Amino acid sequence: MLYALLKTLHLLCVILWVGGMVFAHFFLRPSLAELDAPVRLRLMHAVLGRFFNAVLVASALVLASGVWMIGRTARHMVQSGASFSLPLEWLVMSVLGVLMLAIFGHLRFALYPRLSRAVAGQAWPAGATALQAIRRWVMVNLGLGVVIVVVTLMGASS
Ligand code: HEM
Repeated sequence: MLYALLKTLHLLCVILWVGGMVFAHFFLRPSLAELDAPVRLRLMHAVLGRFFNAVLVASALVLASGVWMIGRTARHMVQSGASFSLPLEWLVMSVLGVLMLAIFGHLRFALYPRLSRAVAGQAWPAGATALQAIRRWVMVNLGLGVVIVVVTLMGASS
């Protein structure tokens, strides 16, 4: 029961994180292209601030629930006399998941503050550069997230 609850939480957090990146990149960003730089950058700054705060919590929950599920599975197998080795898809998920967290840390604690400073100082070219860098890293994380979901679900069904 606890396992199922944590797996559900894990997946809901993944949906928020990956789905939010899809929304920001494919729907929000192109719709703002017509706006003037000050309005566009202020709006993106406000939206990303809220989204990154939510992802900060969601990514911590993804990591904690994932590590807990691995620990519980390993403990049960060892207690029942079997040996435990991490399934390949879990290994891929753990390694790429930690990489996603590291990239998110760079986005939240290095690039976003750069955007904040530019918006506060009305330095619009610097703001556009920071936003461009954020966009690139969000795309990398989105790609990693999709790879994880495909590998995990294909692995589980084989
Ligand atoms: C950060 C490190 C992570 C760890 C340690 C981890 C670990 C786990 C574990 C142990 C499960 C349970 C699998 C099962 O019971 O079959 C699971 C499920 C899942 N995780 Fe992760 N995970 C991590 C990050 C991620 C990320 C970043 C994503 C997607 C972007 C993701 C997507 C999934 C999916 C789709 C499932 C459900 C798989 C199924 O139902 O077969 N995980 N994760």
